[in-house]
Amino acid sequence: MKKIFYTSSAVLFLTLSYGENIDEGKILFENKCTACHTAARPSTPEAMNSLIAPPMQGVMLHVNMAFDYDKKAAIAFIKDYTLNPSKEKALCMPLKIDRFGLMPSQKGSVTTEELDKIANYLTIAY
Ligand code: HEC
Repeated sequence: MKKIFYTSSAVLFLTLSYGENIDEGKILFENKCTACHTAARPSTPEAMNSLIAPPMQGVMLHVNMAFDYDKKAAIAFIKDYTLNPSKEKALCMPLKIDRFGLMPSQKGSVTTEELDKIANYLTIAY
């Protein structure tokens, strides 16, 4: 009986802390990234035309494909690109950079700890 209690407490604890991290990542993403990136591809042509950065849905599709759905590699890329963006590193179509310009480095507006949570959230959400 005791054993069952301890096991279910451990599972509950793990579930809660896992969920908390995801929520934190989601909130940080909304606060730090959605000023430019919408979460999903907009459904109207007007909204498509007023985008100022590629929607995260599309960004993550390219990131996941480029790293063959390797979560660790995707997280490393997102973290590096967000702080040190460059044309050479960009995975998205060159047309995207022509249209939106290169992403400005987010150094100073996001900490590496926050970025860890954001990148982790993105690889789970998309
Ligand atoms: C000031 C606007 C702006 C903000 C804020 C912003 N981005 Fe971007 N981001 C862009 C633009 C524009 C592009 C497309 C051009 C490029 O790839 O550099 C982009 C592209 C990207 C890419 C794809 C890079 C590639 O081409 O392969 C990733 C990944 C990314 N952003 C992550 C983030 C994350 C994570 C955050 C929040 C911490 C964030 N961005 C905040 C403007 C922004």
